[in-house]
Amino acid sequence: MKAHEARVLLTGASGGIGRAAAQALVKAGASVMLVGRAAARLTTQASELMGGMPGASDRVAWQVADMIDPSALAGLSDGAARWGANVVVHNAGLPSFGRLETLSAHDIQQVLNTNLLAPMLLTQALLPHLRRVPRAQVICVGSALGRLGLPGYSAYCASKFGLRGFAEALRRELGDTSIRVQYLGPRATQTAFNSPGVEAYNRATGTAMDTPQTVAVALLRLLEDEAAERFLGFPEKLAVRLNGLAPGLLDGAFDRHRNSLPDGNERPAPAL
Ligand SMILES: NC(=O)c1ccc[n+]([C@@H]2O[C@H](COP(=O)([O-])OP(=O)(O)OC[C@H]3O[C@@H](n4cnc5c(N)ncnc54)[C@H](OP(=O)(O)O)[C@@H]3O)[C@@H](O)[C@H]2O)c1
Repeated sequence: MKAHEARVLLTGASGGIGRAAAQALVKAGASVMLVGRAAARLTTQASELMGGMPGASDRVAWQVADMIDPSALAGLSDGAARWGANVVVHNAGLPSFGRLETLSAHDIQQVLNTNLLAPMLLTQALLPHLRRVPRAQVICVGSALGRLGLPGYSAYCASKFGLRGFAEALRRELGDTSIRVQYLGPRATQTAFNSPGVEAYNRATGTAMDTPQTVAVALLRLLEDEAAERFLGFPEKLAVRLNGLAPGLLDGAFDRHRNSLPDGNERPAPAL
């Protein structure tokens, strides 16, 4: 749909990509409900958006929600329905980086809960409302690592591969409705999401990083052209395609990535 028709529930709105996305959406004429965990950050962000753009004052709302709290998800879905959301952008996410044996069970659960389970449950809660509006879109912000498994990203890839599978299956399930489900796969992006360890890995492996504004432009384009999915950057787009065709053939291409991982001795392997 056109941006000016969109009433977007945007999770992770105060993060690096979320801030750029909120700005691009409001500038293009969309209404945006910002979602995050910190009320103070959301109020400041909302007033900056409203103050910085003429005519935006009645197009920005916000709601606090912790995406891994089921009762908060229910409240968020009710609030979004009352506000008249017709687009949900699942953008909130947690990073996870390191060899599998260095990740704690708790961290793995948090990543799967935030990146995969929360978007699924929020979409499920919103579906009755989305079925009632004339047209709706569910946009999942995944990652290139939702179609390309990299050493050091086993938990993160599991969450984003899962999110992509969810989006694809649900798009087909809702193919006879006016709800469109989409997936955006940014490559590495310059935000606080990436720890110094990840930045060192990216430098060592020659991984390019986009600005959050580049991702925001791609999100806006996806909203308006309603493509099923889109990945950002070259060679990531090519790698994603080749990996889809013959993943085994690419296994040997990631030796440098494996050798660039932190050695895993920084913290002891957690007891199960
Ligand atoms: N940066 C990258 O390299 C990159 C690349 C590809 C894809 N992505 C994806 O892009 C999305 C946004 O990433 P980003 O780079 O903007 O990261 P970011 O700056 O760290 O922002 C992450 C956002 O997620 C929110 N969040 C995390 N846990 C939450 C929870 N339990 N409940 C509610 N909100 C929660 C945070 O909310 P608070 O404001 O409340 O902390 C924050 O706004 C993520 O899904 C990420 O996987 C990022």
